[in-house]
Amino acid sequence: MLTTTAATFLAIAAASFFVLLFSPPPKSYYHSLFISNSLCDNISISRHLYTLTRRPHVAGSEANAEAASYVLSTLSACNMEAHVVSYEVLLSYPDSRSLTLTPTPSELPVIFDLKQEIYEGDPYADVAREVLPTFHAYAKSGSVTGRLVYANYGRVEDYETLKEMGVNVTGTVVLARYGEIYRGDIVMNAFDAGAVGALVYTDRKDYGGAGAKWFPDDKWMPPSGVQVGSVYNGSGDPTTPGWASTEGCERMSVEAVESSGDVPLIPSLPISGADGETILRSIGGQIAKDDWQGSKDSPTYRVGPGPGVVDLDYKGKQIIATIENVIGVIEGEEEPDRFVILGNHRDAWTFGAVDPNSGTAALLEVAQRLWKLQRKGWKPRRTIILCNWDAEEYGLIGSTEWAEENRELLASRAVAYINVDCAVTGAGFHASATPQLDDLLKQAAQQVQDPDNSSQTIYEQWVRSSSSPLIGRLGGTGSDYAAFLQHIGVPAADIRFGTGYPVYHSMYDDYTWMEKFGDPLFRRNVAVASVWGLVALRLADEEFLPFNYHSYAFEIQKLAEDLEKEVSDKGITFSPLFESIEEIAKAASTINDQKKEIKEAKGWTSMWRNDRNKVRELNDRLMMAERAFTDRDGLLRVPWHKHLIYAPSRHDDYGSTTFPGIDDAIETAKNLNTSESWDLVQHEVWRVARAVRHASLVLNGKLT
Ligand SMILES: *[C@@H]1O[C@H](CO)[C@@H](O)[C@H](O)[C@H]1NC(C)=O
Ligand SMILES: *[C@@H]1O[C@H](CO)[C@@H](O)[C@H](O)[C@H]1NC(C)=O
Ligand SMILES: *[C@@H]1O[C@H](CO)[C@@H](O)[C@H](O)[C@H]1NC(C)=O
Ligand SMILES: *[C@@H]1O[C@H](CO)[C@@H](O)[C@H](O)[C@H]1NC(C)=O
Repeated sequence: MLTTTAATFLAIAAASFFVLLFSPPPKSYYHSLFISNSLCDNISISRHLYTLTRRPHVAGSEANAEAASYVLSTLSACNMEAHVVSYEVLLSYPDSRSLTLTPTPSELPVIFDLKQEIYEGDPYADVAREVLPTFHAYAKSGSVTGRLVYANYGRVEDYETLKEMGVNVTGTVVLARYGEIYRGDIVMNAFDAGAVGALVYTDRKDYGGAGAKWFPDDKWMPPSGVQVGSVYNGSGDPTTPGWASTEGCERMSVEAVESSGDVPLIPSLPISGADGETILRSIGGQIAKDDWQGSKDSPTYRVGPGPGVVDLDYKGKQIIATIENVIGVIEGEEEPDRFVILGNHRDAWTFGAVDPNSGTAALLEVAQRLWKLQRKGWKPRRTIILCNWDAEEYGLIGSTEWAEENRELLASRAVAYINVDCAVTGAGFHASATPQLDDLLKQAAQQVQDPDNSSQTIYEQWVRSSSSPLIGRLGGTGSDYAAFLQHIGVPAADIRFGTGYPVYHSMYDDYTWMEKFGDPLFRRNVAVASVWGLVALRLADEEFLPFNYHSYAFEIQKLAEDLEKEVSDKGITFSPLFESIEEIAKAASTINDQKKEIKEAKGWTSMWRNDRNKVRELNDRLMMAERAFTDRDGLLRVPWHKHLIYAPSRHDDYGSTTFPGIDDAIETAKNLNTSESWDLVQHEVWRVARAVRHASLVLNGKLT
């Protein structure tokens, strides 16, 4: 017995000595290498972008299938297990459109040609005809005629202003401008106000710049430029709400989709700045408020109704098409069943040089750098999965179907999901995340050089130029993180350089725009790949998951205090919520202490299985705590959204709301002001309090 123990001890000692002598460099060596200049490649990233954006490649098109093969072969060449996951989903394309304006009964009608113009020397002139005619995906088909009303940004409050001005919107066609809320909500709000149709234009005040120059001479949207996009407000394939669109699966009929409430019930069309201005000249009535006006040299905007009348005719076709997600996997060496997931979409409304293929180029750059690390001996501790989604533009379809299909495995194994949609629209770093990732994002930004100023880090630039808060939140449905975070409860982040850009979703979002205005040296794009990959590497390699739940507790405390003030006179008690927040703050401290203890007790003993189990168990608690913020039943208004802390705002799908259940209930109660409606507010407070408490139980890892 003794001899065996001694022998075992000796064997272990010898093995440890051997490991020490010949151990590979620490993971941090590879992480520094990953972001070093020797691995960064602005030439190859620009080539990826050029190749991916040679033709327009909307979801379901042959060009997008070609782009998918390019991504697949690039990932495969990086020694990844890469494959395509296809789904059959309902996509929407324009069939016919016409728009005619009769300014006054005595004037001749104006027939709009609804075309985005190519310019002299446009290198994409040869493929411009492959760009889809301008339209709103899933818009209602129909033919309507109505006097025009101008509704500013088409928000709920804009209709309140119109009402105060005595403008009756019923039976009219609304003209609204892009720029503040999700276009689907612009159309929905017009419908709610009684309009029979909606036109949404790009005002040069918002997208046209101050001067008289535009693309290709400047970054601004040309007068004929149109922002197309989806007006669908559900999640994933409209015909398979909540389940995956696999071949032969159960499917709702198109008629059922049309009456589901997730697609607008009136026809709509996006139009150019020039056409919007022509229409505005035909609208009389009262002068609109100052902040409803356009730029200095625009005509004076009035609200109508009329005298201008439009005839709007739109026919769309809805068809079941095949979409393709491309998935690349680098299997983890020690914990292959823990997933760090990176995602970006590939489908574009037009050429997609910014949206989304700057992100795809960054994804491929990350893949290539990871391959270079592998050739130098690196292997990830956990599995890294690179995902290139399809049909994001239509309604986050590719990512949602995949997340729905793999829900259980993701729920039990996904460590985090890190998204990049538009990687670069200009200068300046931006990030949004669930709060336990805040520290990690800041640290990564401290390690990478600012691409626009080599004497500082991204972090220094970020802090200097950011209005508070530094890190945004992910309640909106602006990109593919939605299914992971809001449906399943996977910690998530989204990063980019730049904010909005004028040629968004127009024919001018091409490589020329990127090369001239977005990222002339492709160094911002390289920097996104550096931060993205570094965050992934740390999540995949660090023994302890770099999560800090203190930021979560701190943040929800602040938000709960704000909400409490909002309804202070309604007899609602927030104490259950505050108590649960106190618990999660304690749990966050406890788990941080436990992490320290295990680390300190290490050394030789790290060889012991027992110790590895402890680390694993602690990491599982860190990973699973986010799931506890989701509720099986989901939000009352939108049950697919399970997360009780972050969800899309009620009147703007792109906007993020905190405590959406409470927020909705308060809005309803303020309208109804009945005791039942205020009881519902109290119920929602309890519901969030329970979720927060569940999260602290998970962090503590002890049954009651
Ligand atoms: C608005 O106009 C519609 C139809 O023209 C009419 O039925 C309705 O009563 C009007 N509403 C108000 C508040 O005037
Ligand atoms: C969008 O979602 C909301 C529910 O949050 C629903 O009330 C609305 O009717 C939906 N549809 C559209 C087209 O916006
Ligand atoms: C570059 O960064 C340094 C160090 O933070 C700062 O002092 C300098 O003003 C920056 N330069 C520009 C052009 O912003
Ligand atoms: C890459 O960066 C270098 C300088 O850092 C620059 O000279 C070169 O033009 C860039 N390449 C591309 C394709 O932008």
